[in-house]
Amino acid sequence: MNSGAEAVETALKAARKWAYQVKGVPSDRAEVIACEGNFHGRTIAIISMSSETQYREGFGPMLGGFRLIPFADSKALEAAITPNTAAFIVEPIQGEGGIIVPPPGYLAECARVCKKHNVLLICDEIQTGLGRTGTLLACQHDGVIPDALTLGKALGGGLLPVSMFLARREVMNVFSPGDHGSTFGGNPLAAAVGLEALRILQEGELIENAKKTGEYFLTRLKEIKSPLIRDVRGKGLLIGIEIDTAQVSARHVCERMIAAGVLSKDTHESVIRFAPPLIITPPQIDRAVGIFKRVLSATRGELRNNRP
Ligand SMILES: Cc1ncc(COP(=O)(O)O)c(C=O)c1O
Repeated sequence: MNSGAEAVETALKAARKWAYQVKGVPSDRAEVIACEGNFHGRTIAIISMSSETQYREGFGPMLGGFRLIPFADSKALEAAITPNTAAFIVEPIQGEGGIIVPPPGYLAECARVCKKHNVLLICDEIQTGLGRTGTLLACQHDGVIPDALTLGKALGGGLLPVSMFLARREVMNVFSPGDHGSTFGGNPLAAAVGLEALRILQEGELIENAKKTGEYFLTRLKEIKSPLIRDVRGKGLLIGIEIDTAQVSARHVCERMIAAGVLSKDTHESVIRFAPPLIITPPQIDRAVGIFKRVLSATRGELRNNRP
């Protein structure tokens, strides 16, 4: 497909049709479980399983057939499953939700629960996939092979919209010609770029670099002593710094960072996300950390001066 959201839409359609054709769920009763704080895109179906007011407000009525459970809680998953549950869709690390890294073993436990109840485990790796977290897929950290997977973003080498939905044959086979498609879905240019991006990932040392430099980046960030920082977390080159929003917003810090030459992105007011290119080097990380420290001190100065 083209956008990440379309890959997720494809996953939802596949899960529903699999539920009716293979699992034997009564017509139009299939349910999909998702996590609070998720981000899977912004289509009507996808916002219907979002817990974020901004994405939903003004776009109702929402679509039925979704249940939300807390993230990183496999017991909640088991409790939410009914005979009509088709799938559980989850990001191995919540990206837009604030770089929330679940405890080790969480995804493996979800995989066990899903298998036990004949529910598809769909990992949305649009943000975490293709080397970002130091492994090809983030689900590999937990040794999990999901039933289905969505990929996007890096698949287009940062240049071209291309996304995919992958699944076990039994799931993929529910689609007949004409069930699903898009004018530019799987177009030759996007396919060529996607294949090249995968080839570079396989042949180069990008994934290993993401692992090594990610650990280095995280260590350097954890060394920073600033009362504005509440937490530093992440995996590979997907890192979140939680800012004390009682003092300043993450956006304010990100804007100051842009002016100083470093691009980062705020999520949820409170988290600064660093997701640099996988080719980043330790000296470049040192430079970014230096700029970040200077921005934090300057922000502290501003806050002191503005105090009554
Ligand atoms: C985990 C995840 N899923 C889906 C999407 C949606 O992708 P797109 O913006 O290409 O529609 C994103 C985008 O940030 C994402 O992070």
